[in-house]
Amino acid sequence: MLSRTFPRVIAKRVVTPAAATTIRPFSKVEGRKNAEVVSAETVPVITYADGARAEHMIPPQEPAVVKPPGADVQKHAVALDPSILSRLTPTMKKFTLTDKVAVITGGGRGLGYNMAQGLAEVGVKGIAIMDVGADYGAQAAEQLTRETGVDVRFYQVDVRDGAAISGAVKDISAHYGHIDVLINSAGIADSNIPAENYPAEKFRRLIDINVNGSFLVAQAVGREMIQQRRPGSIIFIASMSGSIVNYPQEQSCYNASKAGVIQLTKSLAAEWAKYGIRVNAISPGYMDTALNRVPALDAQKKIWIEATPQKRLGAVDDLNNLAVYLASDASSYMTGTNAIIDGGYTLY
Ligand SMILES: NC(=O)c1ccc[n+]([C@@H]2O[C@H](COP(=O)([O-])OP(=O)(O)OC[C@H]3O[C@@H](n4cnc5c(N)ncnc54)[C@H](O)[C@@H]3O)[C@@H](O)[C@H]2O)c1
Repeated sequence: MLSRTFPRVIAKRVVTPAAATTIRPFSKVEGRKNAEVVSAETVPVITYADGARAEHMIPPQEPAVVKPPGADVQKHAVALDPSILSRLTPTMKKFTLTDKVAVITGGGRGLGYNMAQGLAEVGVKGIAIMDVGADYGAQAAEQLTRETGVDVRFYQVDVRDGAAISGAVKDISAHYGHIDVLINSAGIADSNIPAENYPAEKFRRLIDINVNGSFLVAQAVGREMIQQRRPGSIIFIASMSGSIVNYPQEQSCYNASKAGVIQLTKSLAAEWAKYGIRVNAISPGYMDTALNRVPALDAQKKIWIEATPQKRLGAVDDLNNLAVYLASDASSYMTGTNAIIDGGYTLY
């Protein structure tokens, strides 16, 4: 504890640009105050911890540039230094994914890629990205491997294609030895289509990707986990749209698809608990990803932000820590939940 005491006048005041002027009558200071910058050389801090008064000084700092919350996008993942693992407390250790292998659908970009970065930063052994986007999927795997040293593979698979999924899951299991985590992030959105004019084919396609596709991948990975007789964690990226109706855009199909994903989550959680497989959903609110970066949505985006208590869209890495938590043993008694991350949007 600091025992040093300071004189009663504890901070020397510096007045610029007229600092050279010693003492001026108040009227002169008053007249010029808007032209002057007043700053302390040190900032006194007085504390009363343990019942004893102590004083110390801290240096003043130039104010940092304030960015709007959510403006920081995590572009680079940071490799985990394995030497820290032996120094973690039991609680922190549970948040790590050492020796675990994860499959991430839609991991080529957006929320899926950011969650892949999050997993790579907590010690995952391998990640298989399953995505239909050939160019950015391959680039994502290359970048994540280079930045973190994690063995990341890319499988160009459409989640509607059951046979391609089965082949990929077999290959992933053969390569890494096992699969412990699945994050189902692949999905598409339609919005601003009134129900009375919704083309049937478009409706079927969205349901096929968001619901059937999520099921087919969960089924293939679930089968593998059951055969391996290892516990596993499956995470569906649903949406708050599965629990509320968005405003002002009309998007009945997307909302129905995500309600289906939430109910699928709960059903699989109940069925597969006996195999040690946990199944949970993350339901994001409006996130700042490519899905929403379309000029046609600009006006509506203002309405969404206004209706969100935190007054911002979610950042692309805002799901990462919950994904790590749900993937890891830190959440070992949690299954069948639907966790909403929406800046408070669904409160109103
Ligand atoms: N962005 C949001 O505001 C928001 C909000 C709530 C929920 N979500 C959900 O989060 C998930 C990820 O969304 P995002 O914002 O990162 O979108 P995104 O478009 O940036 O990423 C989606 C990824 O899924 C892949 N994909 C699409 N169809 C596929 C298919 N048939 N087979 C394989 N891969 C396919 C795409 O190639 C892409 O890489 C989606 O399920 C979405 O519905 C997003």
